[in-house]
Amino acid sequence: MNITTIGRGNIGGGLAARWRKAGHEVQELGRDGGDASNADAVLVAVPSGSIADAHGKVSGLQGKVVVAATNAFGGRNEQFPSLAHEVKSITGGPVAKAFNLNFAVLYDKIDEQPERPGQLYAADDDAREVTEQLIRDAGFDPVPAGGLDNARVLEDFLAAFIGFGQSFYRFWRPA
Ligand SMILES: NC(=O)c1ccc[n+]([C@@H]2O[C@H](COP(=O)([O-])OP(=O)(O)OC[C@H]3O[C@@H](n4cnc5c(N)ncnc54)[C@H](OP(=O)(O)O)[C@@H]3O)[C@@H](O)[C@H]2O)c1
Repeated sequence: MNITTIGRGNIGGGLAARWRKAGHEVQELGRDGGDASNADAVLVAVPSGSIADAHGKVSGLQGKVVVAATNAFGGRNEQFPSLAHEVKSITGGPVAKAFNLNFAVLYDKIDEQPERPGQLYAADDDAREVTEQLIRDAGFDPVPAGGLDNARVLEDFLAAFIGFGQSFYRFWRPA
């Protein structure tokens, strides 16, 4: 896949490295923006208060499949039910919430784990397949948490998640 990341910091740069290792072409954009026309998938990993600003500097986003990793550390625009919905209001295409409940600082430890860590995501149906592939190719097992309506649930779960400290998680069905 051709992937564009909006944000090239801990999350954007960290996932870009993982996805390149899995064979994808990844373009990383910072605050100067750029063009995402060639992207099959877009990752949004900027501070929550910069979503509108960051998207305003990137062309070719209309209708793209977008995965939003953003958490609300920088506050949120309460006009939208979630940060993922704010992204969707700009791009107009399928959106997923994923990679918000993980620690970028642990990305280089994923491959050492005895089992693949889980990655919770909530997504529009049209974003589901691409999101699951991106999750797998980053080294995680996808954990579906419903449609995009549940994006806010995943964003709000951050408070509990960081309370446990740097960690991986898995969900599994009983044998
Ligand atoms: N760190 C984590 O473990 C973690 C985990 C889950 C979710 N998240 C979420 O992921 C997002 C990114 O976190 P991070 O730790 O990767 O942050 P980071 O390392 O500080 O990187 C932020 C990136 O956003 C870009 N940026 C900042 N302001 C911008 C603007 N106005 N317009 C366009 N781009 C802008 C920066 O561009 P430049 O490169 O040009 O400076 C940089 O590439 C945040 O919403 C955070 O809550 C982080």
